[in-house]
Amino acid sequence: MRQGLRIAPSILSADFARLGEEVRAITAAGADYVHIDVMDGHFVPNLTIGPDIVRAIKGASALPFDVHLMIAPVDPFIARFAEAGADILTVHPESGPHLHRTIQLIRGLGRRAGVSLNPATPVAAVEPVLGEIDLVLVMSVNPGFGGQSFIASQLDKIRALRRLIDASGRTIDLEVDGGINPATAKDAVAAGADVLVAGTAAFAGGPARYADNIRRLREAGKNGQ
Ligand code: DX5
Ligand code: ZN
Repeated sequence: MRQGLRIAPSILSADFARLGEEVRAITAAGADYVHIDVMDGHFVPNLTIGPDIVRAIKGASALPFDVHLMIAPVDPFIARFAEAGADILTVHPESGPHLHRTIQLIRGLGRRAGVSLNPATPVAAVEPVLGEIDLVLVMSVNPGFGGQSFIASQLDKIRALRRLIDASGRTIDLEVDGGINPATAKDAVAAGADVLVAGTAAFAGGPARYADNIRRLREAGKNGQ
């Protein structure tokens, strides 16, 4: 089922020296989820945030913490991120040999489970577990860095997932991550997305701009509905 449009600012683009204040500011500015990009320098060529940082910023927002795990192997860290405050834990099929088991692990801890598809990962990779998950995250850039350009070929994947999710009758977020700005937000929502991750576009210009940045993304997305 398709739900209302939500905006998930990625704190990868926040000022890390003031991370707690940044999470507070983006929450006050109207964000719906706090998107947290976890990278290990192995699954993706960048290193970012561990569970201790998630725990440290948990008190700064009552919004769901949407934790995107770009680490391999992923299973040994699931419980630590869940305990640290993750509400949604999203994994890539390539980050472990048993995707279904990883999803069971997440749900067994009472957290929402997501599966993320890289630009070259087909829809078929998530289809067998669609009945067990709460979110599908379509990567519209190759994971690892903020500030990259939206890969338009992923719009077909979003359309295909929209059809599958609607046919399933289940409530599953269809989230898009990478290169989201007002123009691509509209395209992604028109294709069927209902959660937009935005790093660069959400945090551009500093805290005084956050509410306006989020409002512009939301309006652009709604124009695509
Ligand atoms: C990339 C991350 C994204 C990133 C998006 O690997 O998963 O969440 O922060 O950044 P922008 O919006 O700048 O493309
Ligand atoms: Zn992400």
